[in-house]
Amino acid sequence: MKKFAIFSFAALAAGAMLLGSCSKTTPVKTIENLKAGITGETTASAKYAAFAAKARTEGYDTIAKMFDATSKAESIHASNHMAALTKLGVEFTAKADSFQVKTTKENLEDAIKGENYENTSMYPEFIKVATEEKVPEAITSFTWAFDTEKKHQVFYQKALDAINTTNAETGLPFAWAVCPKCGNTYDAAHIDDFCAFCQTPKEKFIMF
Ligand SMILES: [Fe+2]
Ligand SMILES: [Fe+2]
Repeated sequence: MKKFAIFSFAALAAGAMLLGSCSKTTPVKTIENLKAGITGETTASAKYAAFAAKARTEGYDTIAKMFDATSKAESIHASNHMAALTKLGVEFTAKADSFQVKTTKENLEDAIKGENYENTSMYPEFIKVATEEKVPEAITSFTWAFDTEKKHQVFYQKALDAINTTNAETGLPFAWAVCPKCGNTYDAAHIDDFCAFCQTPKEKFIMF
């Protein structure tokens, strides 16, 4: 009788576990959002690298360094989204969309638009859906990108204001720091001892 009771309990527990694994639904929307995020970040990274090269040809060395730093940050976001997707068992190849390179002033305007879309529309929606679908890795990766893009928009706006008012890089930061784990981007003169988003120590930051 005792043996039967133990067996019944074990069978019940196994059944419950099986039911649990079956009821875990595939986070369909988050998978699509991760793919879109990877494409968006891969494109942004390539675009900012091209904007950096253009800024150098126009003599804007500080703005060029800023675009080098943000290009790196976007590639880190793409890698983090990819890691979240891989953890869900999905394979995907990152590929950049096409983009245009114009004058540095126009490139900054384009970059501001892109960052604004990401931090007011795209990532808030992605985070909401990932929360509903309960995908913690995606929530973290989207949130790191969301928080970083807000800062990028501010940096770009300051650079655009400097060009518009003085036609020079007056008052802009001389150097930049990027957290290798989350892509958080700092004016190198004002970094935290530990990354404000992921607590990586500043000694690990990538300097531009
Ligand atoms: Fe960005
Ligand atoms: Fe970080």
